[in-house]
Amino acid sequence: MIVLGCNGFSRVSEFFSERFGATGINKHYLLGHDAAAALLIDGRLVAAVEEERLNREKKTTDFPVNAIDWCLAEAGITYDDVDLFAFPWNWSAQVLDETLDAIRASSAPQDTKTGLMADMTDLYDQVVSPEAILADFEARTGHRPDPAKVRFVPHHLAHAMTGYYLAGMKDAAFLVSDGRAERFSTLTGEIRDGRITVFDDTVIGAQFSMGTLFSSITRFLGFVPNNDEYKVMGLAGYAAPPTPNPFIDKLLTLHDDGRYTFTKPLQTDNLHSHDALFEEYFGPFEDTLAYTSRVAAAAQEMLNVATAHQVSHLEKRTDLDRLLFEGGVALNCLNNTPLFEGSRFEDMQVSFGASDTGITIGAAAHAWLNHPDTAPADIRAASGPITPYLGPSYDEAAMEKALQPFTDLVVVSRLDDDEVIDQVAKLLTQKVVIGWFEGRIEHGPRALGHRSILANPGFSDIKDIINTRVKHREPFRPFAPLVLEEQAPQIFDMGRKSSSPYMTFVFPVRDEYKDRIPGAVHVDGTSRIQTLTDEGTPRLTALLRKFTELTGTPCLINTSFNVAGEPIVCTPTDALNCFMGTEIDYLILGNHLVAKKQKKEHPVPTIQRKHTMYHSTVLDADPDTVWATVRDAMQILDIVSPGDLDIHRDVSWVEGGSVDTVPARYDFKLTLNGRLVQQEIAARDEINKTQSYRAVAPTSGVAKYEATIRVFPITNDPARSFFDWSRTLDIAEDADLNVVEAIIDVMEKQTDAVRDHFAKTAK
Ligand SMILES: [Fe+2]
Repeated sequence: MIVLGCNGFSRVSEFFSERFGATGINKHYLLGHDAAAALLIDGRLVAAVEEERLNREKKTTDFPVNAIDWCLAEAGITYDDVDLFAFPWNWSAQVLDETLDAIRASSAPQDTKTGLMADMTDLYDQVVSPEAILADFEARTGHRPDPAKVRFVPHHLAHAMTGYYLAGMKDAAFLVSDGRAERFSTLTGEIRDGRITVFDDTVIGAQFSMGTLFSSITRFLGFVPNNDEYKVMGLAGYAAPPTPNPFIDKLLTLHDDGRYTFTKPLQTDNLHSHDALFEEYFGPFEDTLAYTSRVAAAAQEMLNVATAHQVSHLEKRTDLDRLLFEGGVALNCLNNTPLFEGSRFEDMQVSFGASDTGITIGAAAHAWLNHPDTAPADIRAASGPITPYLGPSYDEAAMEKALQPFTDLVVVSRLDDDEVIDQVAKLLTQKVVIGWFEGRIEHGPRALGHRSILANPGFSDIKDIINTRVKHREPFRPFAPLVLEEQAPQIFDMGRKSSSPYMTFVFPVRDEYKDRIPGAVHVDGTSRIQTLTDEGTPRLTALLRKFTELTGTPCLINTSFNVAGEPIVCTPTDALNCFMGTEIDYLILGNHLVAKKQKKEHPVPTIQRKHTMYHSTVLDADPDTVWATVRDAMQILDIVSPGDLDIHRDVSWVEGGSVDTVPARYDFKLTLNGRLVQQEIAARDEINKTQSYRAVAPTSGVAKYEATIRVFPITNDPARSFFDWSRTLDIAEDADLNVVEAIIDVMEKQTDAVRDHFAKTAK
């Protein structure tokens, strides 16, 4: 039996931009995001791919015509061969009526309600009703499915089934939680022998959606909702939640039956509905690490408490000992480890398709498992864990063809299998960034080793190097490590977990390893690991073994092979374009080692007329010690001048300036050209440990120079601190760009000098 699962709508992004003013990636935030297709043949998943990988529009909601075409071609079949068409949504007329009733009963002004009801009716008629979905399918594929072959699977059941199917179809209890399905935001239940039982009294409506609330907080903090939630998780590591936590104290209500509600329900069409409440709880919004991390930590604690409450109820309700957690909220990996450790479940799994990327797999599995022709023996024959490598792969000829247009720009070596492992392991002993492309592309939001960027986590500044050369990510976001499954518990405190193959759990790094993999340890001392096995990823596992043999470092950094804002690369040409457009040092394209002919040894940033630099690092000293040092211009000028970075001489306070006066003038001369530089400490805040300074006269092509340093505490590591340095230079029209470039080149390295200074004094 052949089942095609698909998710995506031609009209949805247009609809949300027309009716709700959504622009850019926001058009994909509500419904149908993570469009994809999946193909099941006799219960075996033969192909699955997200549409964004093929149409190159991140998180696209579009109808997945490319994904479907590829799945059918991969299996060598046509639309006529498909026995069942499965869709992971079930918008019935009854769902529409209930949605309209809920709007009618809300306390919003009448004209708002009227407008919203008209919008919802149109959304139903034009986009999500069964008729609209089938009309869309026909318009985009030229094939109208026979209604007898169509299955509309309720969204949350598709999520639950994704987890069940990908974990090998063993009986399990489940928790599904996301932004919203047709009406609900979360529910629990059980799956036994492929049949789902929902615990109806555990469902929670969309107005109390933890996923949507977290998205509202993401937007409030200045990020893109339904996309940047992991940035909020990254920020949460920089602060402890406030006590009492206003989200828990004032907003969240836990009920005895395992549900939760909010004292102020969400307006599901308006992600700003709680902004005023957030400001009431945390004060007016400030775009500072201190403010955003405090809100993020509070939000994280609320999410943890709410899901733990659901699980504590679920574990009493079921006698099964396995838990599946699916839906977008399950990708909050900070929550998953404590959630599992605090439960009685013997295992908890979060699949690589836990967000909406995976629901086409779940919808197809649901359709197949519930078909009368599917026998228990068929299910047994098809069961077993599934790897995420389900998308397109490209053979030698395709790679060579893709390389052709780049012949003049790159040097290519064709290696045999062993040489790939040897060469790349050796390259990774250096401070290099490597694009790694092999086999079928992974499914889901995370790069899991087939379209990855790899680097050596033993270098403490590797994060800055990856960010400078390719990722340009916020400095507070961590990079995650690969580790051999059999070694993982030795390096990370994994509690009752023995593996985490999909980066869906976070574990504390054991103290003795923190210094050995500094580039992969988050500021809170944890890592979101991917465990490797020979069965799952043989080539990458061999590479990590070889690398460890050479360096003694048991991990590699793994981050997705893409530039910010773009989908992960899919084809060899995508990979080559990303490679050529960034400062990635080497590309491994199958068995080809690719390097650029003209490779800059040290990428020098392109100089803008208004040139901004932002650096941050963690220092091995407590905030008071760091502050006492860095607030003194004389001391910091000395610290940033080791060896070849020494560009200052004759440094002294002038005009009565001193370490304890503000403003305070000081001068020095540039060793580059002997020119005088006149600067002053302009402002200082002793409480927040922040200081601004500036040039008081133009010099050496720099017309204007302003800078701020700041020292932050690290909540759960009081012996260390976070150091932030931002600088803006206005470059004069007639500047000698060689001199300016030399100054900027030194400045780029000064934050590292500060870090090295405190590393030395700590010893
Ligand atoms: Fe979902």
